[in-house]
Parts: sequence; C-alpha cells; structure tokens
Amino acid sequence: RAQQGLKDYYRDYFPIGVAVSARDLTGPDTTLILQQFNSLTPENAMKMGPIHPEENRYNWKDADAIVDFAVSRHLRVRGHNLCWHEQTPAWMFKDANGNPVTKEVLLQRLKEHITTVVSRYKGKIYAWDVVNEAVADDSTSLIRNSPWYAICGEDFIAKAFEYAHAADPDALLFYNDYNTERPEKRERVYKLLQHLVASGVPINGVGLQGHWSIFEPTASELRTAIDRFAAIGLKVQITELDISVYPWEKNRRPRRPDEHDEFTPLLQQQQADQYKMIFSIFRHSPIGGITFWNITDRRTWLDNYPVPGRKNYPLLFDTNGQPKKAFWEVVNF
Ligand code: XIL
Repeated sequence: RAQQGLKDYYRDYFPIGVAVSARDLTGPDTTLILQQFNSLTPENAMKMGPIHPEENRYNWKDADAIVDFAVSRHLRVRGHNLCWHEQTPAWMFKDANGNPVTKEVLLQRLKEHITTVVSRYKGKIYAWDVVNEAVADDSTSLIRNSPWYAICGEDFIAKAFEYAHAADPDALLFYNDYNTERPEKRERVYKLLQHLVASGVPINGVGLQGHWSIFEPTASELRTAIDRFAAIGLKVQITELDISVYPWEKNRRPRRPDEHDEFTPLLQQQQADQYKMIFSIFRHSPIGGITFWNITDRRTWLDNYPVPGRKNYPLLFDTNGQPKKAFWEVVNF
C-alpha cells in the first residue's frame, strides 16, 4: 500500500496532529509521527510546572526540542497550555513566607509567565490553549474553584488571553475543555465563551478535548456541540482525541484481580464504529484541526487513568504501531 498517512487522507479537510514528548521524536515512533501527522502538541513540556519550575527559572529543553523538530519538518505546533489548575508549580500561588499571594501579584506572575513563553515561540506556534479546563464540572458554580479562581475571581481568564495576545498577536488563542458535548457542561462552557467574546476578549477558538469512549458522545451530541460553539463565531478544534474502550462513568469501579484488560474483537469493532461516526461528522463540520492524545496503544495516558494499572487501547495504531480496524474506518471515505 502507498505510504499514505492520516494527514494525506485529510489534506483537504484539516491538519491532523498528535501529542508528543521530546523522547518520542528520537525514538521508534518518529517515523510513524512523520508519516501520519502534520501537527504536534507537547503533551506535558509546555505546562507551567514542567516549563517554569521556579519563579526565576524556566526549563526550555523539551519544549525547544519539540518546536525545533516541528520547524525543521514543517509541522504545525499547538501550544498547550498557559493557565490550568493542574501541573502548576506550588510557588506560583505563594509568597516568600508561604502565604497566599494577592490577586495583583498572581496576575503579575501570570503575565510574566505568559509573556515569556509565548514570546519565545512567537511565529512558531500557530495556536495556543490559553486557558484549560476552567469551567466547573457541576453546576454549583460556573468557574472551577481552583487557586486561580480563589485568588483572582474569574478575571484570570480574560487576562490570560490579553497577555497572550499582546505577546503574539498572530497566534490563534483557544479555550480548551473536556465533556463539552454533555449538554449540561456544554451550556456552561457556552456561557463563559459567549461572555468572553461579548466583552471583547481576544479569543479565537474553542478546543473540545475529545477524551471520549465507545459509548459517548452520540452523533447528535457531537453535532450540537460543534454547531453551538461555531455559532458564537469561534473556531472549533478537537484537541486531545482518544476513544477509551471503557465507559467513563464506570471508570472508578475497582479493578478485579482476574481482569486482563483485553482488546477483544467486540471492543475493536465498537471502537472502529465510534471512530467512523465521529470522523464522518468532522468531515461535514466546521472543524479546523484534530489532534490525537498520544501516538499508539503502546503508551497512552489512559493506561493508568483514572484506574491505576489498567491498560487501554484508545488510538488508531496498535501496540506494535500498526493501523487498527478503526484506522481503516477513518481513512476509507
Ligand atoms: C495529561 C498527560 O497526557 C499526562 O502525561 C499527564 O500525566 C497528565 O496530563 N487534559 C489535558 C491534558 O488538557 O493536558 C492532559 O494530559 C489530559 C487531560
């Protein structure tokens, strides 16, 4: 078969990316990355904890390696991410005595962080996930109760976008979140985004993470979410796609000792059907990019999350890097 990759099949539709670590770029998966994808997202290297471990120290090594690789191979880069409640270094929220900083100090630190990181990669990163997962999971409040919110109120969201825009006016700026197809959360994310746009905040798009499963979303949930966000006038991308073979809501059930986490023929078929369904919707939607969250089933963040030790098989390439049934459903159209 011809050396056609996902990116070639989808050339007329949207870029197809993958989340990588710096190690992936000099290892056994490098060939597969170059064959299949035309966009990269650093899986962890640009998050605040890894890249800015101490107030006066940045760790550019892995992030630079990923950006340099992408530039030399003519791949796009999506930056991920500038402000999140996880993987944030503890020093960010504390003064020299270990007490919580004031809102003014925290916004000043956020500004310094965003300005430094975005400026370094100006012109090399075409889109940034500026704020990640700020909307609460339940309806008791709109914004998640994180240290960002506790100290700044919701202002940190608009400010993060303003700082990023000032540092690179040409970069596309995204709000990124999960469970955005579930009607209840979808409507709360919608409310936040509509408010940001109406207030003149420099936001260009919304990233639907796409940590889905063989059971969700349904076709109508997916279509409704894409259409609803696009109607605000925002670009819509799928930023962290994987299709778990386990239902998310039962993920916290304890694992039985005799469970082997096998990727059975039934699961392979159900996953192929789900991938086929979502890609046929993507091809007929205003989708500006798709990024897979990891390369092959050999290593995925879902191997240990949210059930420690459990193996998952959420991607299009198997544990040997070979295309799965789901791959052929995605490219045969
Ligand atoms: C995950 C990484 O894949 C893991 O390696 C890390 O241990 C935790 O974070 N939503 C996001 C991503 O926005 O940054 C997360 O990535 C997965 C969920």
